[in-house]
Amino acid sequence: MTLKKQTLLVTGGAGYIGSHTVLALLEAGHEVVVLDNLSNSSPQSLARVARLAGRAPVFIEGDIRDDTVTRALFARYSIDAVLHFAGLKAVGESVREPLRYYDNNVAGSLALCQAMAAAGVFSLVFSSSATVYGEVAQMPISETTPTGRPSNPYGRSKLMVEELLADLAQSDPRWRIGVLRYFNPVGAHASGSIGEDPNGIPNNLLPYITQVAVGKLAQLTVFGDDYPTPDGTGVRDYIHVVDLAAGHLQALNALQTRSGWQVWNLGTGQGYSVLEMVHAFEAASGQAVPYRIAARRAGDVAQCWSDPAKAEQELGWCARRGLPEMMADAWRWQSANPQGYGGD
Ligand code: NAD
Ligand code: UFG
Repeated sequence: MTLKKQTLLVTGGAGYIGSHTVLALLEAGHEVVVLDNLSNSSPQSLARVARLAGRAPVFIEGDIRDDTVTRALFARYSIDAVLHFAGLKAVGESVREPLRYYDNNVAGSLALCQAMAAAGVFSLVFSSSATVYGEVAQMPISETTPTGRPSNPYGRSKLMVEELLADLAQSDPRWRIGVLRYFNPVGAHASGSIGEDPNGIPNNLLPYITQVAVGKLAQLTVFGDDYPTPDGTGVRDYIHVVDLAAGHLQALNALQTRSGWQVWNLGTGQGYSVLEMVHAFEAASGQAVPYRIAARRAGDVAQCWSDPAKAEQELGWCARRGLPEMMADAWRWQSANPQGYGGD
């Protein structure tokens, strides 16, 4: 079944994954309303999305916790479903500022669900994370792998929201909730005009690598080469952000025929080490990435990759873009926008 044209609310739609998903939704013919407080993004991302799509989403600058804003929004637009990306995502910051994280991510999601229920909107796709699995002994990770104890407040906030949503779906059969557990999103739209624009020094591997290559940072620090992995460095399941965006459209589609609480891993099923990532980037970009080996980073797991079979069976979705494309697209974005959206 293909998805009929809908009016969709995208919270956090100006951010990295949200902006790529807004583009995919516009390209598929949907009407899109973005609600974003711009706490970690620039309105330029949506201006560029509009240029790529040939039409603009409605943009409302506001906070998901502000029920005056959400109630007015639901009263004005006839929303069919909500894609909920808005949240804070920096692991280290969540350790230093847990209250801000629980407020934004947990209380924010709660307020959004209350506003949805009041407006009679019961379809929701939620951005969760593989971090909810915690430390897992056996790879790959499938949805039947029990959730664990995430090692930081950010991860715990995601797990709390998942559980809140499960209780909600249990309480009222009108809810249709799709929880998407992302593995490691990377890359950028092939145009090079939208991409990841982290504030300050990046925490994540690929933006750090691209900023070394563009000359903003001197060298990469590889956190640990003594893990029980083939080359001793950490292994992750990196997924192209455009594939990830496509997964959201498939999840919306599936919610037309599935009620209750559903969960899907969005990953490729393939793990790559930090050093494999460095070498793949060098091959795709022609740029050298100097690095040094340092101690392990607190809270990191040795390895994490998905079993994506459930999404393939139930959503008809699988990741199509391999590592060379992830690297080429990340580099096109970074080299064309060395200052991110700040260069506009
Ligand atoms: P991002 O920071 O680029 O996007 C989040 C957006 O939400 C930003 O535009 C920010 O301004 C907005 N926002 C934050 N709090 C808000 C609030 N209270 N009200 C309104 N807007 C608010 O992050 P992203 O990488 O695009 O991540 C999107 C979602 O996916 C997040 O929920 C994140 O936790 C989740 N996720 C991300 C990753 C990753 O590695 N990027 C992995 C797993 C899950
Ligand atoms: N790494 C380095 N040097 C760096 C940055 C990262 O060696 O400068 C290594 C890490 O140790 C890890 C791998 O590169 O082995 C990936 O690290 P990232 O920080 O890019 O990603 P994580 O897997 O640690 O975390 C990401 C998101 C989290 C999310 C988690 C699980 O940042 O929000 O995936 O989905 F919870």
